[in-house]
Amino acid sequence: MILSDNENKKNVKVLKRQNPDLSTSSIKNEDNYEKNIRPLNFDDYIGQSSIKETLKISIEACKKRNTHLDHLLFYGPPGLGKTTLANIIAHELNTNIRITSAPSIERPRDIIGILMQLKEGDVLFIDEIHRLNKIAEEILYPAMEDFSIDLTTGKNQSVKTMRIPIPKFTLIGATTKAGALSGPLRDRFGIIHRLEFYTTEELTKIVKRTAKILDFKLEDDGAEEIAKRSRCTPRIANRLIKRCADWAIVKADGVITKDIALDALRSLDIDNIGLDITDRDLLKLMINSFDGGPVGIETLAVALGEDIRTIEDVYEPFLIQKGLIARTPRGRKATKLAYEHLGFKTPSQNYQLDLFNK
Ligand code: ADE
Repeated sequence: MILSDNENKKNVKVLKRQNPDLSTSSIKNEDNYEKNIRPLNFDDYIGQSSIKETLKISIEACKKRNTHLDHLLFYGPPGLGKTTLANIIAHELNTNIRITSAPSIERPRDIIGILMQLKEGDVLFIDEIHRLNKIAEEILYPAMEDFSIDLTTGKNQSVKTMRIPIPKFTLIGATTKAGALSGPLRDRFGIIHRLEFYTTEELTKIVKRTAKILDFKLEDDGAEEIAKRSRCTPRIANRLIKRCADWAIVKADGVITKDIALDALRSLDIDNIGLDITDRDLLKLMINSFDGGPVGIETLAVALGEDIRTIEDVYEPFLIQKGLIARTPRGRKATKLAYEHLGFKTPSQNYQLDLFNK
């Protein structure tokens, strides 16, 4: 199969890890903010300590054996550092990383083109890998297992299959939904890690690190307030510190103090445990319109005017982590904690009240 260069480049970004400045034009369009503050090695990466330790061992072992690293799958809610870890792994292996996402791999030639451009030892990062289509997935199987691609030519009776070798590479897949991956694809990953939510302590360190890189003036208790309201997620912490820095420079003398952080976060409608307006609308909807549930995700999505995937991937994991939503076989339920957090009487309190009112 002949693949035009342009078709292949459309789907993949190449990062030269040896020199972060050597980027292709598509990289230049990347959000520079996230790129500039992203840690480039394990020493700078805060949190996920046990994953980091196992990865360091695997990387060192494969360097000693002079072989490629096993294929790796990272899963967990968005913003916890899956892409960052993939970049660090490539950096530590001193190799190139090629970055793409499953929804951009539409036709067989897209994935074949990406695979054929790989060089020995490269890291191929596929984000949202659970969204890979069946044909692309089947092309990946022999690529992952035997480092080869099966190409078919001709039609009907004259169909021929050619097995073409490709360089040994490491596939790093990232997904918010490990359960949506097919068994055969999941089984081809030698290393599987679930990324955990971050503690306030870790997020405090992350916002302090970001402030240092970007020359923001940040006081310790300002850092802690931002960390507490960041949904246990570095990407959110790094977004919030930027908004707080804007607020500090416009409304005060540029220093992010605790009070400035609190004012800025209040103006963004972020409450004391980090819920935003959509989180609270979701909980209120469950409580007010569905008696706290159980209610199906589709019903919630329609009533909120949100995409099901956004609710499942972005909102729900944190609400579950905080103990505000429970998943049951019949749908989602708002917990007692959710009633209390929003200042509603819990259903049992309502029941008692009714009894007394009669
Ligand atoms: N920025 C985003 N995630 C980070 C992490 N885990 N450690 C340090 N800085 C980060």
